[in-house]
Amino acid sequence: MNEQPRATSVVVAGVGAYLPQRILTNKELAQDLETDDAWIRTRTGIRQRHIADPEESTSDLALKASERALTAARCSAQQIDAIVLATTTPENTFPATAARLQQKLGVGKPVPAYDVQAVCAGFVFALHSAWNMIRLQQARRVLVVGAEIYSRSIIDWTDRSTCVLFGDGAGAFVLEAQEKTKEKTQEKTQEKTTSATQRGILDIMLATDGGFYEQLYVDGGAGSSDRVGHLKMQGNVVFREAIDKMSQSVALLLARNGLSVQDIAWLVPHQANSRIMSGVARKLGIEEARVVSTVEDHGNISAATIPAALDHACKQGSVKKGDLVALTAMGGGFAWGGALIRW
Ligand code: UT7
Repeated sequence: MNEQPRATSVVVAGVGAYLPQRILTNKELAQDLETDDAWIRTRTGIRQRHIADPEESTSDLALKASERALTAARCSAQQIDAIVLATTTPENTFPATAARLQQKLGVGKPVPAYDVQAVCAGFVFALHSAWNMIRLQQARRVLVVGAEIYSRSIIDWTDRSTCVLFGDGAGAFVLEAQEKTKEKTQEKTQEKTTSATQRGILDIMLATDGGFYEQLYVDGGAGSSDRVGHLKMQGNVVFREAIDKMSQSVALLLARNGLSVQDIAWLVPHQANSRIMSGVARKLGIEEARVVSTVEDHGNISAATIPAALDHACKQGSVKKGDLVALTAMGGGFAWGGALIRW
């Protein structure tokens, strides 16, 4: 066989997640708030959320998820060439939470380590950045993390229309370069087979429409006020647009890669509301059995929902090597995006 090195594929070599120990149930929430378990479950699918301990910070959550992803990828922190961390709730206003994570992990050498802010779509934006770094051969292994502590300051615990939705947690991927190969003989046939079976990230799309800025935002921040601020949301607009934009992003990725909905083994949508996830699946024509869902137990953990959901699915043994996985998310901005990954 006549094999020669080709362009680099970017594979997910390991996944990890960390959810804080403390669980806050709907029933507990209803003790201090005019709400009830039945309303939260039927309108959102959420049963409980995890809450960080007072001594846990965003980088602590990120650290635990990262260590688990590194173990799954069978590599050490010293083998990481970059860290891209998506968060809306950074450890401090600066430096980047990724810098703190680099320090805690003991990477032991200077590498690019920076935060990405695209709210609930943050992990897909971070993935895009890491994917390109590897494709440009500026890194071989990149740690991509989503980590959030919404419970501490940006949630208004007296606002029942938002506080019941969110939780804390972290998830991480280790992305790794893998050489694509093709046989010199029967080049055309082989190329077709390769594109249909090659592992790794096939494509990512990103978009932002700032025209929706006021529909989901935090009313404070270092550049505009003397307070961190609280999350404000026009729930019904977010609901409608999330279904449209997430389903459209997957449809666009399938079309531009010559793939169809039937090729998707698993859809992993941003976990904000089970009714939104069902709406996306329905629009795409994907049955519910192929939708990964952790919203019931995690609530909405913003940039961390997708890696945490995938960690759960991998541990369950549902997502397997060779499966085509479609990710999609939308959040504040509005910012949204999607990715196709051959697992
Ligand atoms: O990650 C992206 C960010 N967020 C999202 O994706 C969330 C998107 N939006 C949603 O998930 C939904 O819009 C919500 C779950 C937030 C709200 O569900 P809804 O079916 O759109 O309810 P609604 O806003 O139309 O409110 C219906 C009623 C209202 O009462 P009235 O005005 O009809 O008397 C609310 O005051 O439900 C009331 N309500 C509640 N009742 C009990 C709102 N929150 C609660 C609550 N418990 N927690």
